[in-house]
Amino acid sequence: MTLNLIDRRPFASVATGRGDVTATPLREVRPGLLLKFECDNPGGSHKVRAARFIVRSAIASGEIVPGRTTIIEKTGGNFGFGLTLACQAHAIPVELAVGLGFSAVKRRCLELFGARLIGLDMLERGATPREVVQWHLEHAAEHGRSYFYTDQFRNAASVAAHELETGPEIAAQLKAWPEVREVTFVSCAGTGASLVGIAKALKLAGYSVTVVLVEPQGCDSRNGVFLDHKLEGMSVGVVPPFIEWNLISEIRTVTYDEVLNTRRTFARDSGFLVGNTAAACLTVANSLAAGATAEHKILSILYDHGLWYLR
Ligand SMILES: Cc1ncc(COP(=O)(O)O)c(C=O)c1O
Repeated sequence: MTLNLIDRRPFASVATGRGDVTATPLREVRPGLLLKFECDNPGGSHKVRAARFIVRSAIASGEIVPGRTTIIEKTGGNFGFGLTLACQAHAIPVELAVGLGFSAVKRRCLELFGARLIGLDMLERGATPREVVQWHLEHAAEHGRSYFYTDQFRNAASVAAHELETGPEIAAQLKAWPEVREVTFVSCAGTGASLVGIAKALKLAGYSVTVVLVEPQGCDSRNGVFLDHKLEGMSVGVVPPFIEWNLISEIRTVTYDEVLNTRRTFARDSGFLVGNTAAACLTVANSLAAGATAEHKILSILYDHGLWYLR
């Protein structure tokens, strides 16, 4: 099946009020199913938006002083890439404690984007990335550092990023489908920032919004139940700190085999190899698309690309 990958509107005409960032495409890939290509962001995912917002807010509040502050965080995932890029724009150094489970390619890419990876010796001796960050914070003075710990699981600026940026961007793009009144938003949650921010912004823009939360089979984030799984970025082992459960109407689970199957099919149909969390949500969004109408669309997010996840 050939998918429709043509945007209805040129990106430049999306009125988001942001001068410096190009909107990612919103495409109706098949009738009723709208996908937001967040994988097209600098750094390859939606997390650059949270990172940019956190960095800008902290500069505005004086907590980060370019030229003096060093950013520290524990991540080798998408937030690390976003953060490194967000900091490059202000020439702020970034130090990341990256768990040894992350691939060598990711480490090399983070360094290529400008991050300094810290605490390898500690990690090799069994310390956790959190302990590496803690140690560096405690020894900052003797290393001549003034650190700002972005702490993505506690920093609510990431919700604001999606409420004030990603969500309004989607709402502006949705005007290309003037009949739409209702949106079923199929989303996963790591921190919960993108789910909450986008859902709230679409509601504020006047859409009737139903949120379906996608989880790996066996996980139940609401009740703090987590199994080991391969869908890096969602259901990450802690209750998503920013989630507002009253926004969620339904929870659906997916198996890893279903995710792989969706990823493969979408790659062949569209030419886009998407990441695991994107494919997980797409699995559910596909199953709901048959019920869509001109007034009611299914919306999901392609969080990142899939090359990382090929083993
Ligand atoms: C690939 C991927 N998908 C989904 C998420 C979840 O995003 P959020 O933290 O906004 O809930 C993340 C978060 O890191 C991610 O990396």
